[in-house]
Amino acid sequence: MVTLDDYYTAARSLVEPAAWDYIDGGSGDETTLRENLAGYRRYRLRPRVLVDVSRCDMRTTLLGSPVALPIAVAPTGFHGLVTSEAESACARAAGEVGALMVVSTFATTRLEDVARAARGPLWMQLYVFRDRTVSEDLVKRAEAVGYRALVVTVDAPVRGRRVRDLRNAFALPPGLAPANFPDIPADGSSAELAAQLARHIDPAFSWDDLAWLRSLTRLPIVLKGVLTAEDAAHAAELGVAAIVVSNHGGRQLDGSVTALDALPEVVSAVAGRCEVLVDGGVRRGSDALVALALGARAVLVGRPVLWGMAVSAAEGARDVLSILGAELETAMALCGRTDLASVDASLLRPASHRPC
Ligand code: FNR
Repeated sequence: MVTLDDYYTAARSLVEPAAWDYIDGGSGDETTLRENLAGYRRYRLRPRVLVDVSRCDMRTTLLGSPVALPIAVAPTGFHGLVTSEAESACARAAGEVGALMVVSTFATTRLEDVARAARGPLWMQLYVFRDRTVSEDLVKRAEAVGYRALVVTVDAPVRGRRVRDLRNAFALPPGLAPANFPDIPADGSSAELAAQLARHIDPAFSWDDLAWLRSLTRLPIVLKGVLTAEDAAHAAELGVAAIVVSNHGGRQLDGSVTALDALPEVVSAVAGRCEVLVDGGVRRGSDALVALALGARAVLVGRPVLWGMAVSAAEGARDVLSILGAELETAMALCGRTDLASVDASLLRPASHRPC
């Protein structure tokens, strides 16, 4: 297991086919899913030489939490699909490499148990429910056990049409449920997962409701799923602490811009008023370096962590994050950059002479 691709191949043969489709798939024609990966190939690195690279420092902070590397675990639902140790294994792995983890609302482990297993900083991802008391409860519980930020996912007011899941009528296997909500969706129905979740997530949640959210908690608020300068500027004006530029790993709006393409306009619109992270398609340390050079403070990684866990639970997740970290460190050294402050747009040029 030397690359993330090795984990992809191994995981594919281990995960039950419908669960694999749920993890691997995107929405519609999966155009955005493919472009997320291809986007990184549109850049080339401009290495500087004869720099003393005997030390390379990848440390940074994310909303004040120190981390060993600018690579974090994206929130992904239902880790129990790939390993019985589920989110606890993931939290342990992230902590062991000094990475931050964002825990999904739809974890298959209670958020308190994930916090107990964790060795490093956790942020809590939030879907806002039609029944606001459910979300309120989740926010209070997360704050009480030490989660350090709330990551509100804003690109999923309705669920993307995930063709593979629709064809498979994908539902969680018996015994697996979102552990934070004992009644959802293990409600006795065998309805497709998307339909079950859609019954609960509030499609009316909008900018004005952020004030409600803020009134519930002292935790900083992060918006995940912003792809335009307009929304980024609005978020910054409202005092959001961070933005995750993301198209949800190609699982929501097929045909949307890639997060990498949206990143420069978001960075420029917020003009330093909040932290900017990005996710989607990071499969190599050099991909992370491209995103950092375009102004991201860190990247999040979704599917590869699940591949790692499918192969060997916490050890696999840790290995996936370590591989990415080692690749990033090598790429930085070979570019003559010894810390993250020296990673900037001068590192990049378009792969072709066409604008990228
Ligand atoms: C996700 N993602 C996601 N996002 C979120 O905000 N809440 C969630 O519960 C989930 N669940 C989820 C499940 C699975 C199986 C996947 C693959 C993704 C999206 C995720 O946080 C992230 O945006 C993408 O996964 C990033 O793209 P890569 O790294 O998977 O290419």
